[in-house]
Amino acid sequence: MTAPPPSPSSIPPPTAIAAALGKRVFGQPEAVREVSVALAKKLANLRVGNILLVGSSGSGKTTLMRAVEELLASDPALALRSTVVRIHANVLGEEAQSGGAGERVLLRLLDRAREQLGPEAPVERMVAQASHGLVFIDEVDKIRSRAGDEVQVSGLRAQEALLTLIENEAVPLRLPEWAGGGTVAVDSSRLLFVCAGAFEGLYESVFRRVVQGAGEQSLKKTTVTETGRILEEVSFSLREWLRSEDLFEYGITPQFLSRFDAVVVLDPLGEAELFKIFAESADSALRQSRAYFASQGIKLEMTEPAARRLATEAARQPRLGARALKEVFRRVIRPYEFDPQHAPGLADGRLRIEVADVERGLAGGRDDAATSSGGWGV
Ligand SMILES: Nc1ncnc2c1ncn2[C@@H]1O[C@H](COP(=O)(O)OP(=O)(O)OP(=O)(O)O)[C@@H](O)[C@H]1O
Ligand SMILES: [Mg+2]
Repeated sequence: MTAPPPSPSSIPPPTAIAAALGKRVFGQPEAVREVSVALAKKLANLRVGNILLVGSSGSGKTTLMRAVEELLASDPALALRSTVVRIHANVLGEEAQSGGAGERVLLRLLDRAREQLGPEAPVERMVAQASHGLVFIDEVDKIRSRAGDEVQVSGLRAQEALLTLIENEAVPLRLPEWAGGGTVAVDSSRLLFVCAGAFEGLYESVFRRVVQGAGEQSLKKTTVTETGRILEEVSFSLREWLRSEDLFEYGITPQFLSRFDAVVVLDPLGEAELFKIFAESADSALRQSRAYFASQGIKLEMTEPAARRLATEAARQPRLGARALKEVFRRVIRPYEFDPQHAPGLADGRLRIEVADVERGLAGGRDDAATSSGGWGV
């Protein structure tokens, strides 16, 4: 027998949260699970350990944060249980110069609490609501305390400012004018921080450390095939080898890192996930293009093999993650965009992109496809 679905006022179990997030975030099971459990605890008003997400560019970090925001926003009862804000770490770096980064986070939460509770709500209630919010700090790698041997003062200060918020029971907050001014002490020990960053260059530096330390031999995996052949391959995954020292080296201070209970390394996206993102995600390049062609009175279709071919091509640019899909798709679709009414292959108001069309677009190169004759093979 299956359990009845949770009523809107009850706290959904992590599995239900993960299922909802999974509609937006494809792949990344570990990050989704970790965030789902944290959110279930948060919604139950329990203490939760902070989470640091490490994942290459375009792997879904911001998408995951947005998915949580949307999930909370979709149910007023859930939204009221946790005020959520998403802040770009660069902003904190700038604020940190004037010593106001911690306050900035609290003020954002307070603004959000006011939006949720309405301007007539008592200020104490807004402060209480803000003080157990959920804080997403995106691009946290931009507040590194050093880059190589060079100290980055603004990054260091921003980390220090966040430290004063995490696990602190009396943070002074100067209230804005609308809240009557004055200073109150905020218990911020119940805030949940989920920070994410791409940590550009981390993969390479960890790889170097491992190879220099134990030699490439340590990365060789030996498997025996069914026919008894011995296969040796070098495989390296950041998740397996990442140590705290690597993040210290990158410029995340030991004090700051120690405030995170979990460091989750996201997976590089494979062809299967890229295909799903391209075919199904709400903001996929294909969907956007369909909307454009629809506005021109044309129904754009793409065969599954054509979409898979595109995902295969995108997977060849792992540094861009899912963003590679946009770049690759653009090469294919661009020749059709200028004069869609006279596009070759257009029949009955339908334009169907097949594998051969993808191949032609890819062969046409990045910019040739934009010229009038390029991309059509004429
Ligand atoms: N795992 C994923 N599931 C669904 N969509 C994804 C995923 N990863 C990336 N995307 C898509 O790719 C684009 C970029 O993703 P996102 O902004 O989440 O990357 P990011 O990890 O935050 O990268 P960056 O470090 O560069 O900020 C978005 O349009 C998103 O829809
Ligand atoms: Mg991002």
